[in-house]
Amino acid sequence: MEAPLKLWGGRFQEGPSETFQRFSWSLHFDRRLFEADIAGSKAWARALARAGVLTRPEAETICAALDRVPPPPPDAPDEDVHTYVIRMLGELAGGLASRLHTGRSRNEQVSLDTRLWLRGEIDRIAGLLRGLMGALLGQADAHVSTVIPGYTHLRRAQPVTWAHYLLAYFEMFWRDHERLAQTRQRVNRMPLGSGALAGAGFPIDREALARELGFDGITANSMDVSADRDWALDFLSAASLLMMHLSRLAEDWILYSSDEFGWLELSDGVTSGSSLMPQKKNPDSLELIRGKCGRVFGCFTSLFMTMKGLPLTYNRDMQEDKEPLFEAADQTAASLEMARAVVETARLRPEAARRAAAEGWLVATDLAEALARSGVPFHDAHRLVGRLVLESLRQGRQPQDWTGEELHAFDPRFTPEMARLLEPEEGLKTRAVPGGAAPQTVSAALEEARRRLESLS
Ligand code: ARG
Repeated sequence: MEAPLKLWGGRFQEGPSETFQRFSWSLHFDRRLFEADIAGSKAWARALARAGVLTRPEAETICAALDRVPPPPPDAPDEDVHTYVIRMLGELAGGLASRLHTGRSRNEQVSLDTRLWLRGEIDRIAGLLRGLMGALLGQADAHVSTVIPGYTHLRRAQPVTWAHYLLAYFEMFWRDHERLAQTRQRVNRMPLGSGALAGAGFPIDREALARELGFDGITANSMDVSADRDWALDFLSAASLLMMHLSRLAEDWILYSSDEFGWLELSDGVTSGSSLMPQKKNPDSLELIRGKCGRVFGCFTSLFMTMKGLPLTYNRDMQEDKEPLFEAADQTAASLEMARAVVETARLRPEAARRAAAEGWLVATDLAEALARSGVPFHDAHRLVGRLVLESLRQGRQPQDWTGEELHAFDPRFTPEMARLLEPEEGLKTRAVPGGAAPQTVSAALEEARRRLESLS
């Protein structure tokens, strides 16, 4: 194969060694920036025409040729996608190609291309996230007052409703969506005109370039452009948080759908069997989401470590930014799609969930608060209900095994009508503060969530 085009070489007496070429080439992964590189190169050609470096017809010839450059084939010999595009342009537009790079550096080109690509990925991921949020609301719809056990320390704590639980995740994903939107603002600044590090030596209209490429504005410092990738880390951090939320939802649902909990049913379509044990229905989709979360954290850590301690401005270390970015975007998008399918098809078993909430003294707090409402100091009420629970454990009694009279006989500070609170639905009704689990509050919160979600699209 003939020696590949290089965008440098004049000051060298020997070419790069085979080992170094293999080690440093990035086309096999940065090929994903191909479309962005074409768009950026066309805009740059027009900017050069506006600056008087190229004539208008020359710029248009270059643009037409760029439109005809095919995506890099797997065996393309070029160092990176930018070099590939210039070589192909040379084949299609002849000598003009070597004028396109006037005033331009790959250091800013790689920033531009990655920003363009990432902007699209953020939009794709935000869309998938809205889909998942919609699925959570769909699942919540029928369950505003369906009682489930709420947990702390993975021990049954207080009754809540299934809709209230689902809305908790809605809030987490809402903030993830905000973080993506904020990240997009920082990504969407146009870096071209920064040169290698010191700014272009030609009168480039950077604002016009920004408009043409759909950016919100231009970057403010050429050295910053060459040196930093914090906007990529913003994305990796937002993606990591989003994956953390997905992973916790996955963990919850793996537990809730187990025989030990037994009040959530995952659909056949998102579970798999065992090659040996015929009875198994395994929650592999959720386990994979949990597993992929680890990979995305790894991507974040990887670029974080790469950037730490680099001297200003560009260093080749920064070529290592792309693979973690690509991987994090792919894994996050795939996990969101999977999570949505799980949420849309899962079925709550309301009777089993209620049974889990009615047994195990989740109503103890409701009872203590009723005593407090009747004038018993809370600490005394807490101690009294604690004694009732201890006695019940000794006798193997559940809350509903007690009558009002028996409660009163246990301690006269219990009034017989407090027995009502031994049903989980009763105490729930008292939690009507904004953000609380009372069904009427949850119903309003659900409506509000729907309104908020609609405002996003
Ligand atoms: N492939 C390089 C990267 O991804 C492009 C920039 C090369 N610049 C340089 N000075 N070698 O970072």
